[in-house]
Amino acid sequence: MSALVTEKLHEQFDAGLVTRADFTIDQPYERYSIADHTVWQELYARQTTLLRGRVCEPFLRGIDRLGLAPDRIPNFDALSGKLMPATGWQIVAVPGLVPDEVFFDHLANRRFPVTWWMRGRDKLDYLQEPDCFHDLYGHVPLLSDPVFADYMQLYGQQGLAAVKLGVLPMLARLYWYTVEFGLIRDASAAAGLKIYGAGIASSRTESIYSLESDAPNRLAFDLSRVVNTRYRIDTVQKTYFVIDSFEQLFEAVQQDLGAVFQQAATREPYRAGDVLVSDCVIQRGTGEGWLDDGDV
Ligand SMILES: [Fe+2]
Repeated sequence: MSALVTEKLHEQFDAGLVTRADFTIDQPYERYSIADHTVWQELYARQTTLLRGRVCEPFLRGIDRLGLAPDRIPNFDALSGKLMPATGWQIVAVPGLVPDEVFFDHLANRRFPVTWWMRGRDKLDYLQEPDCFHDLYGHVPLLSDPVFADYMQLYGQQGLAAVKLGVLPMLARLYWYTVEFGLIRDASAAAGLKIYGAGIASSRTESIYSLESDAPNRLAFDLSRVVNTRYRIDTVQKTYFVIDSFEQLFEAVQQDLGAVFQQAATREPYRAGDVLVSDCVIQRGTGEGWLDDGDV
């Protein structure tokens, strides 16, 4: 646990905020300072400008539909009031990352856990752990898309099953390469690709890098390939997997994942930058700037 998360947990404890068994709390809205709202404003303005033409249309529709405010941190209950009629999802406040089983249970029940606290101004560009801006601005707009919303719920249900099968790393890779760092084909975009992953959409650096750099690989999404591919948590990605549509994602997790995992477990996971002869390569990366170790 990072020093920042430890500090926030202390703050939460000292403020007497009650944490429920499912790790949720009531969003302590009165605890946000002017500085917190200012960080939200700056990040919101910066990303919204940057994402124009780069992020997929359902994401932009979600921002409009949910009325995400540019000037202040949203009230989670008010946001749920707009999200619920769209797809039946709601937002719940949490202190940060929650245990896997708790996380999957929230998703399986159409509850998306959002970290309540905001990063400081000194961390506008990079934060190791998710904060309110990443969780809310990055993830919540797409929860208003019916197919993506169904994918997220089914992912949670599959996650609960995966806990019992002991194949969590594979489920984590799927989440990483889709929900966090996924690209989607879009003929209207300059290079035919747009962003849908929250880890990209909430990051200035990766919003540009994922679409415009020659360094990373861009490969067509393939479930059995993705669940067996390591990834980077400390830098931008070496490989991005590209989906055709959200329907493709939903169909991927509708199948018997136990069999997919069993098959994948028969070989060593691929390195983050590997390109296989069986891959459908959209763009092979130059590998410029890659570190040799550090895949997780
Ligand atoms: Fe995330």
